[in-house]
Amino acid sequence: MESIQILDAKKHVGETVQIGAWVANKRSSGKIAFLQLRDGTAYFQGIVVKSEVGEEVFQLAKNLNQETAVLVTGKIREDSRSKFGYEIGISGLEVVGESHDYPITPKEHGTDFLMDHRHLWLRSSKQHAIMQIRNEIIRATYEFFNKNGFIKIDPPILTGSAPEGTTDLFETNYFDQKAYLSQSGQLYMEAAAMAFGKVFSFGPTFRAEKSKTRRHLIEFWMIEPEMAFMHQEESLEVQEQYVAFLVQNVLDNCDYALDVLGRDREVLKKYTKLPFPRISYDDAVALLQKNGFDDIQWGDDFGSPHETFIANSFDQPVFILNYPKAIKPFYMKPHPTREDVVICADMIAPEGYGEIIGGSERAIDHEYLLEQIRAHGLDENEYSWYLDLRKYGSVPHTGFGLGLERTVTWLSGIEHVRESIPFPRLLNRIYP
Ligand code: 4AD
Ligand code: MG
Repeated sequence: MESIQILDAKKHVGETVQIGAWVANKRSSGKIAFLQLRDGTAYFQGIVVKSEVGEEVFQLAKNLNQETAVLVTGKIREDSRSKFGYEIGISGLEVVGESHDYPITPKEHGTDFLMDHRHLWLRSSKQHAIMQIRNEIIRATYEFFNKNGFIKIDPPILTGSAPEGTTDLFETNYFDQKAYLSQSGQLYMEAAAMAFGKVFSFGPTFRAEKSKTRRHLIEFWMIEPEMAFMHQEESLEVQEQYVAFLVQNVLDNCDYALDVLGRDREVLKKYTKLPFPRISYDDAVALLQKNGFDDIQWGDDFGSPHETFIANSFDQPVFILNYPKAIKPFYMKPHPTREDVVICADMIAPEGYGEIIGGSERAIDHEYLLEQIRAHGLDENEYSWYLDLRKYGSVPHTGFGLGLERTVTWLSGIEHVRESIPFPRLLNRIYP
């Protein structure tokens, strides 16, 4: 008899198979027991009929506790009433690991309680669906960049540089030196682009941000492409193609997860249409002011109500172009005819999910960069390797960073970024 994963049920209809699973829930009458099972790949029903299995197995099934691990044997059948579409008619049942007083019961629990039990909460069908979407975004990311001629480069996690400003760095000891946990791999990816042309990274990043919002994590994963001999306009095209590709692949490959989450496919489909709209920072400020946002002046950074209003003015992800130089990092390319703005863009997701991409063309002039490094209070000795890139064949180049968790949150249609990563690190939480 073959051991299978229920995800492959389609290939085994009518066959007797064995599946290792956990009991998520159950209900029973005097003659029949319905086990809600999960084997890690999906949630499915197991049916135990007393007259078929005998008294002993039936009693065992009826008394199974939530999260007991079992080996079930039985025949795979189609089940048009369930979301999943297949069930198993159980003929044999063996307990592998007992479970008593599982803390997360089918009733409602508060968020703090669930967060304290994140190691168990991950077993729920909603969390399962979100992780399927996360996995698909990761898979599609590799597919997209591989097929477009990018090579994956891994920047270091322990670094001496602070690309995104020095206020939210995690500092650690590196023997007798200071080091920081990476807040972005960008500067290293620029070195890689000068070596390999088109590169992308995918790795963890850390920000000691004191923000307690539904969009901020302390530890999050970022995808950072960097492209040599490329200007900002071409980068925007790569960005919108990449994001549309992610949406399309979630639509194509995450049917079951989208059903579990109740995510409207018609809404997602709108995000596969290109191009995405573009609005300048200047026009975005004017738009906000015209619509009663008295709190925003030219030169201010946008907060989440501002981003949400701008996003709602369009039906798709929107690029906001060319922010004030004063509120952006040191490395961005200056505007060719204006002193006050830099060549950059943020992509704002629709439906109030906020910024999912930050990117820019990079300054390539050695003297200008050195000046900016000094002006931002950074130690030029720590950036001399970076400045080398502007000494030996400096070329136009551009890149961006997409926040994985914000993208997962958006495509899943969930409320809070904390559910988009298996073990979220938040301002007040490093447990479990
Ligand atoms: O806009 P950011 O700070 O850009 C950079 O780090 C650039 N160096 C990227 C580059 O050009 N290579 O961050 C990029 C994205 C944001 O748009 C957002 O999606 C995500 O990273 N992000 C966060 N996600 C969750 N929690 C946080 N605290 C985040 N901070 C940024
Ligand atoms: Mg940003």
